[in-house]
Amino acid sequence: MENKIRAIVVSISDTRTEDDDVSGDVLTQCLRSIGAEILEKLIVTDDFEGLRQTLYSLTESEANLILTTGGTGFAERDNTPEATLAVIEREAPGISEAMRFETMRNTKFAMLSRGVSGIRNGTLVINLPGSPNGVAECFAILKDILPHAIRLIEGESKH
Ligand code: MTE
Repeated sequence: MENKIRAIVVSISDTRTEDDDVSGDVLTQCLRSIGAEILEKLIVTDDFEGLRQTLYSLTESEANLILTTGGTGFAERDNTPEATLAVIEREAPGISEAMRFETMRNTKFAMLSRGVSGIRNGTLVINLPGSPNGVAECFAILKDILPHAIRLIEGESKH
């Protein structure tokens, strides 16, 4: 049980539904493939305040990892990075830098994601882009460091 990844997947979109949330499903499968427990998978709209409140309450939960997908681009309604920054206490810029840098080998459009990463209350929050390909490519960069990152964070007491 110790240091097990307890994850919540948050799809952020004004249009996705449970029936067509491909990126959320890809992310859930990626997490299961590394043995993570999925505590919850939810879809929330791009509304800044709703998003901020959702992310805040999720960092109060038993989860030690929150992965978001979507809302990281340049459109006016893309509020994911701002809502995440409003919640986290410490940034982990290296994670987002690595996802952008490494996946730019696949697509230059990776630089259009403004996603951020950081920690609050023993929970690591990481923004991934919204496309299914983007999710899979970025998770491939993340997966090897996640167990160690969670181990380090769990050194801080969660509750
Ligand atoms: N990163 C990777 N690795 N692969 C992708 O296909 N799509 C990009 C970028 N990051 C992409 C990616 C595109 S086209 C956009 S617009 C931004 O993520 C923001 O997407 P979002 O607003 O859906 O989060």
